[in-house]
Amino acid sequence: MKSISVNTKPKYDILIGGGIICDIPKLIAPFCNTKRVLIVTDDIVNSLYGETVLNSLISSGFYAKKFVFENGEKSKNINTLSDILEFALENDFHRNDVFLGLGGGVVGDITGLAAALFMRGVNVIQVPTTLLSAVDSSVGGKTAIDLKRGKNSAGVFKQPCLVVIDTDIIANLPDNIFGEGMGEVIKYNVIKNLPIFDYINSNSVKENLENIIIDCLTLKKEIVEKDEFDTLGIRNLLNVGHTIAHAIEQLSNYTIPHGKAVAMGLVIESKLAVKYGICQNDTALKIEDAVKRQGLYFDVDFDKKELATACLKDKKNKDSKILFLLPQNLGSCIEVKLTLEELINLL
Ligand code: GLY
Repeated sequence: MKSISVNTKPKYDILIGGGIICDIPKLIAPFCNTKRVLIVTDDIVNSLYGETVLNSLISSGFYAKKFVFENGEKSKNINTLSDILEFALENDFHRNDVFLGLGGGVVGDITGLAAALFMRGVNVIQVPTTLLSAVDSSVGGKTAIDLKRGKNSAGVFKQPCLVVIDTDIIANLPDNIFGEGMGEVIKYNVIKNLPIFDYINSNSVKENLENIIIDCLTLKKEIVEKDEFDTLGIRNLLNVGHTIAHAIEQLSNYTIPHGKAVAMGLVIESKLAVKYGICQNDTALKIEDAVKRQGLYFDVDFDKKELATACLKDKKNKDSKILFLLPQNLGSCIEVKLTLEELINLL
């Protein structure tokens, strides 16, 4: 088992290894003196791992309960959040107990937020079960629910006290779910020149899965430690590809999943960077090639005015300009602010 320490407040470890879900009771014991755990998960993950985790905790002497909600973004709302909090109270959880999010990004985000609110804050342990949540959303403390008019529009920063990543679970994901995570993985190779494109080119992603996850999280940890609350502009680096991605997600009514939208966001933003004169075509082609090899390439056939206008709603925007983190080459991105007209012309 490998471990990465994240030096935020509080400081915590990310544990990474094959089969470590079986060791959950032992791994979480130091963070749960009361031995009382509320597992939050969705129906799909529950059918695969929910009972295993619940029973292993109960047979190790924990008081454990499981709250299960319907999978998907449509559940990431105030009603599910309220149901989790009511369930916790009904089942007699207290402020020194622990919430454990077992699932992908939706589960992790809503469990983190519920933990931040319950009794004014209980510890949360993240056990991500998708590649996307393992390399991104389970680490760094961003929690949220969606509001009617905006994705992730209500949330707080709540760092977990532990993250447990079982690489066997990630390696056994269906191809489409695994692929979505590769959109975020490719992003890390654009922020820093990592060996990930070599693994993609040689078709050896799964053989190098543990190294890939460690490389992505080591980079994420460095960025989060410098700008935990996303106020200094440093954490924005993690948003390369995301301005266009958020617009694609929004225009598709969230039918295009986040990871696929990020992959195409990287392709389009790197082409914008070439047209803007800050990036070589060769770099944009490498990014496009990696996206194609992972089967994440698709035609983005929204009208360019529609796409640019949707970018105006991005949370990162400043001074009524659209903010992009554009790649200059693999390993270097810079902030560029564009007016709506400039963006339409470049698109
Ligand atoms: N997912 C972007 C961030 O954690 O800041």
